[in-house]
Amino acid sequence: METKTVGVLGAGTMGHGIAHVLIRGGYTVLLHDLSQQFLEAGAARIAKGLNRDVEKNRLTAEDREKALSRLKTTMRVSDLEGADFIVEAVTENFEVKSGVFRAVEPHCRAEVIFASNTSSISITRLAATTQRPDRFIGLHFFNPVPVMKLVEVVPGLATSPETVEAAERLATSAGKTPVRVNDFPGFVSNRLLMPMINEAVYCLMESVADAKGVDDVMKLGMNHPMGPLELADLIGLDVCLDIMKVLYESFRDSKYRPCPLLEKMVSAGRLGRKIGRGFYEYPQGRG
Ligand code: 3HC
Repeated sequence: METKTVGVLGAGTMGHGIAHVLIRGGYTVLLHDLSQQFLEAGAARIAKGLNRDVEKNRLTAEDREKALSRLKTTMRVSDLEGADFIVEAVTENFEVKSGVFRAVEPHCRAEVIFASNTSSISITRLAATTQRPDRFIGLHFFNPVPVMKLVEVVPGLATSPETVEAAERLATSAGKTPVRVNDFPGFVSNRLLMPMINEAVYCLMESVADAKGVDDVMKLGMNHPMGPLELADLIGLDVCLDIMKVLYESFRDSKYRPCPLLEKMVSAGRLGRKIGRGFYEYPQGRG
């Protein structure tokens, strides 16, 4: 089945970015969220991103208008009956994600593929909560989605080869480079990245260096575009903590224990750029 219309569940940081690259790639997107406010915020960020594409000559003004006309927003799950492919990008929590798939599935045709943008939850486990484990896959995008080239493509135990091919086609036509990885906690990306961020928080907690010092070491010594603490602020400290917990609980290995300072920051509500404060302060508010 040819994919023309993609349902994107969640208009937050990842969802709006995924919708952006899909409409730019020629797909019609049905962007779903629970509140009009989230939908409007997501659509405004997409419009801003497309304006930037025009300013930078990556898109003509005419193509921007065409792309925007392919974006529909909705709060009704029943509107997703028009989708040929679903990409879920809601909160990183098994119950929330499986609940969303349960709500959406009765409105979707049997052949529709479900993809989850989970950053660490088992695809096999999520797939098993649906009636279509063979048409279920992980499509893990990276933040900021319009900029980062990678999509990890994660087949679960029951995912069919046709589903993998369709998911790779979708990622490619959204301008991304798919890399296939197997369904293990954290996949490859977060199994490597999150322990580094967590260890950076330990360095800060133990006063090995201040936040800027920790970040400067990785930027100037390792050529990372952002230091690990800046990057944690970009990703969201709550997301980093959730992923560390998944790694810790899945591998049952103490090397993945979340740093107490990371837990404390999340308890204090210092979640990073999205709320204007994390390891750094963002006076402009939400980043
Ligand atoms: N949304 C959209 N576009 C953004 C953006 C955002 N939040 N932040 C920056 N950009 C764009 C800018 O507009 C600019 O685009 P342009 O070509 O139109 O000028 C381009 O990115 C470069 O931005 P800047 O010149 O302002 O700044 P930098 O050169 O420092 O780049 C960065 C910013 C791209 C964010 C770079 O610092 C970077 O690559 N950082 C690392 C990001 C990273 O590692 N992401 C992965 C996170 S892990 C993840 O998402 C997985 C999850 O499971 C946790």
